[in-house]
Amino acid sequence: MINVTKTFFPPLEDYHFQVGRIWDNQWLTNRGELVLELEDKLKFFLQANSIMITNNGTVPLQIALKLLGKEGEIITTPFSYVATTASIVWENCRPVFVDIHPDYLTIDEEKIEAAITSKTTAILATHVFGNPCAIEKIEQIAQKYHLKVIYDAAHCFGVNYKGKSIFEYGDVSTCSFHATKLFHTGEGGAIFSNDKTLMHQLFYSHNFGHNGPLAFHGLGINGKISELQAAMGLAVLPYMSHIMEERAKVVNYYNNHLDFTHLKKMKLREDTQWNYSYYPLIFENEVELLKVEQALNENAIFPRRYFYPSLNTIDYVKGQSMPISESIASRILCLPLSVGLQKEDLLAISKIINQMLC
Ligand SMILES: Cc1ncc(COP(=O)(O)O)c(C=O)c1O
Repeated sequence: MINVTKTFFPPLEDYHFQVGRIWDNQWLTNRGELVLELEDKLKFFLQANSIMITNNGTVPLQIALKLLGKEGEIITTPFSYVATTASIVWENCRPVFVDIHPDYLTIDEEKIEAAITSKTTAILATHVFGNPCAIEKIEQIAQKYHLKVIYDAAHCFGVNYKGKSIFEYGDVSTCSFHATKLFHTGEGGAIFSNDKTLMHQLFYSHNFGHNGPLAFHGLGINGKISELQAAMGLAVLPYMSHIMEERAKVVNYYNNHLDFTHLKKMKLREDTQWNYSYYPLIFENEVELLKVEQALNENAIFPRRYFYPSLNTIDYVKGQSMPISESIASRILCLPLSVGLQKEDLLAISKIINQMLC
């Protein structure tokens, strides 16, 4: 069986070594030695100015929205994982959807201004499949209307844009270290901000608001990651170059063996050093997608309709229609992409797709 992704497991002895340190320290959570070490190593690896690692990639979105969204209207994309929209609603803000660019698949920056009202407080945009949003234009709009910018960069581990880490852009960026992601800690995530004051507030917020054991800085929640998760991160991190190289080979294989007469790929933003995080294919229509998906499934190959459905159609948001996002969501399929996929697997996948579309 070939799934859309396969979690990378480091050699067991590497994990045992890290877990052994936890037993030596007799310390399981509350920012222990392993969490602090992982933060330092990630900061270096990613060349990021700041980082705080968290228990997943959703809580940091909620914390950022709590601090910057202030129960206002949040301009956002309908083409993302549900966590993006759900966090907005969870924080008692109102999602205001803006349609996406049909080639880049990120929020269409040219349509943002028309959606701004006196109640808008922030823009929450997703760098879809590691493809950067139109960062400069979004920055300009945010400055003009005094809005905060939060990037859901869940897919962006290792992405650089214009020569620096993608996590350096916006007021806040968040990442997910879920088991299905490029770099993972089982469950986990991170939050980044170059604003030192804001980073302090984010820090307090992720630890119940504690400012020392007996005092509180303000309202907070529990966004802390444990030593056990950090142990997995420390065991996985040394393999990142290998992971990236193997994934690049898979992507190149698909690029060279698929027939693109009736298929489209996502267009990568210029000046992007990408991370090979997903392989989305855009079909001409949903019927073709379903035909290919069924043929792959019959051969025990399971791609994923990611992202589907378009988030403006979820019943608890009642968003207006977003024709481009709805159309793309109905005909996009992510192909299997992970370390360990064999050439025979990739050949079989490419052949089935080509045959079904000819
Ligand atoms: C775009 C996007 N945002 C947020 C999340 C949430 O991350 P987590 O599962 O770590 O909470 C995901 C996870 O899949 C995601 O793909």
